[in-house]
Amino acid sequence: MTALDTPGTAQVRLAADRVRLAYGDKVVVDDLDLQLTDGSFTAIVGPNGCGKSTLLRALGRLLRPTGGSVLLDGRAITSRSTREVAKVLGMLPQTPLAPEGLTVADLVARGRHPHQSWLQQWSSDDEAVVTEALTWTDMADLADAPVDALSGGQRQRAWISMALAQGTDLLLLDEPTTYLDLAHQVDVLELIARLHTERGRTVAVVLHDLNLAARYAQRLVAMKDGVLVASGTPEEVLTEQLLAEVFELEARVVPDPVTGTPMVIPVRRLRR
Ligand SMILES: Nc1ncnc2c1ncn2[C@@H]1O[C@H](COP(=O)(O)OP(=O)(O)OP(=O)(O)O)[C@@H](O)[C@H]1O
Ligand SMILES: [Mg+2]
Repeated sequence: MTALDTPGTAQVRLAADRVRLAYGDKVVVDDLDLQLTDGSFTAIVGPNGCGKSTLLRALGRLLRPTGGSVLLDGRAITSRSTREVAKVLGMLPQTPLAPEGLTVADLVARGRHPHQSWLQQWSSDDEAVVTEALTWTDMADLADAPVDALSGGQRQRAWISMALAQGTDLLLLDEPTTYLDLAHQVDVLELIARLHTERGRTVAVVLHDLNLAARYAQRLVAMKDGVLVASGTPEEVLTEQLLAEVFELEARVVPDPVTGTPMVIPVRRLRR
């Protein structure tokens, strides 16, 4: 098992500091530490129900910890206003809900709301950002379609466009590739990688595809039963031993023939 890595000298933008997360009496995550340093690209992996979305929601201020704290640029995120947080942190939840009848363009335009004020209403800059976001996700042709009339993959791309239009330094994406065909999965991950490398965005993504996670993320964190069990480079984390321990999966790990990053070949499910 890999030791939790230390953040080094890079500035920590977002941190979970001994957080406990619960729904009512049910504690789902306990005593968890995680640091996202400036300009890092982290993928969070782990089995269904282990607490990935719960953690991401807490990092995005959608869920208040019952213990410990989430720090955004060193200050408790819960002490900040929704609008203040929305200017620096964009979040794509696992199952976002759009109001009935809302069009794709209107949804994406909502990404600009945190940047507007009573004095500064919709501007041509906002328009340009929305158009760019729709183009990036291949959704420009569907701009006028109602969100509730889209296919699962198109809807996912509409929400990703909204998160992009928000233009935040920090992006938290919960399974952004769900429902997408393989080509669009690669598109979305390439796009996120570009935001990271070209624009210096700090990104954390929950992903189930371990091979794509290993290709794109610099750092993987693996969770099981609400605990962070490994953190490090894809090579450090994606070992046959970890796959057995965390996913109860017997697997071979071989170098990806295209990128050289670890590639997981499942063998069989291990039962306890
Ligand atoms: N709103 C809720 N109320 C009560 N329990 C919840 C709620 N949301 C999630 N849980 C529970 O918390 C645990 C962690 O759920 P979470 O959604 O964080 O898992 P996950 O790792 O994101 O799983 P998946 O890979 O399936 O998305 C699960 O046992 C789940 O049943
Ligand atoms: Mg989830």
